[in-house]
Amino acid sequence: MKRLFSSMIAASVLATGGAMAEPANPSDPEEFRALMVEFYEDRYPDVPFEDYNMGVYAIDEDARSQWEGMMIFPETDQYIAAGEELWNEYRLPNGKPLSSCLGEAKGLRARYPHYNKEDGEVHSLGLDIINCQKNAGEEADKVWDPKNNYKKLANVLAYLASESNGMTNMVEADSEGAKAAYNEGKEAWFRRTGRLDNSCADCHQYHGGKYVRAEHLHMNLGNTTHFPIFRYSKGKMYTMHKRIYGCIRDTGTVPPAQYSEYARNLEYFMSFNDNGLELNGPAIRK
Ligand code: HEC
Repeated sequence: MKRLFSSMIAASVLATGGAMAEPANPSDPEEFRALMVEFYEDRYPDVPFEDYNMGVYAIDEDARSQWEGMMIFPETDQYIAAGEELWNEYRLPNGKPLSSCLGEAKGLRARYPHYNKEDGEVHSLGLDIINCQKNAGEEADKVWDPKNNYKKLANVLAYLASESNGMTNMVEADSEGAKAAYNEGKEAWFRRTGRLDNSCADCHQYHGGKYVRAEHLHMNLGNTTHFPIFRYSKGKMYTMHKRIYGCIRDTGTVPPAQYSEYARNLEYFMSFNDNGLELNGPAIRK
């Protein structure tokens, strides 16, 4: 807890230019988000806010031109097509399509993640798909959960991302419960874990945009708008929850499960901070 607190102070002192005596760690999501944006405005005064949805390519010209090359015939197209077919053809055990449970594909991704006042939980699109299947009585090995049918899940998420492309990311946090979930996510962001004793913030905020070996590290603005991603280095699709899981595991610990409350709150925190950016998934990363 002490460490978490000191990371918070470091973040806020950096965010306010280092001159403040009182560390700023507002519990109001909008105030905290504004500090994050300022933090990056100070660090990269020449990068326009709307470019952050490109991730590191916003700040690294060489990588950006390579990436623009990758986007001419994007590798993601085949995953979108596979996902579209699944979305259209899959039927729940009651014979109905997934849209009977989730609504139409257009704009669906843009309504996630969100906080649901009724059950007091952050809803992730992937988990809502899984729960839709489970609630309809789908057989366990046919549910598109990360363990049994990860590829189907990732492909459908790629298709749904493409159906919200160009819309503006607007995550709401307007109830006490939503604010609490945001703050849980924020704590998780600053919590050091594992043998490496690193937090998300250690890698992505204090060093966000700096080099690790030959690679630029992604920053914590624009972390969510483009998921799922095709990773060139791995040759496969990564959902947000697989990525979070991998990043925590790489600190040398056993991570909370994909779509656990912990991971959903983290997703919520990151997604809220991306408000105002254009959705641009699925994307390609090295
Ligand atoms: C030890 C350093 C380290 C830690 C700690 C870490 N990450 Fe990462 N993260 C990376 C690296 C390296 C990559 C791949 C290169 C990149 O995309 O920055 C990455 C990539 C990501 C991406 C993909 C960014 C994109 O634009 O595609 C997300 C999202 C992410 N991390 C979230 C997290 C979260 C959430 C945590 C905390 C639970 C975390 N990371 C902790 C090193 C770290």
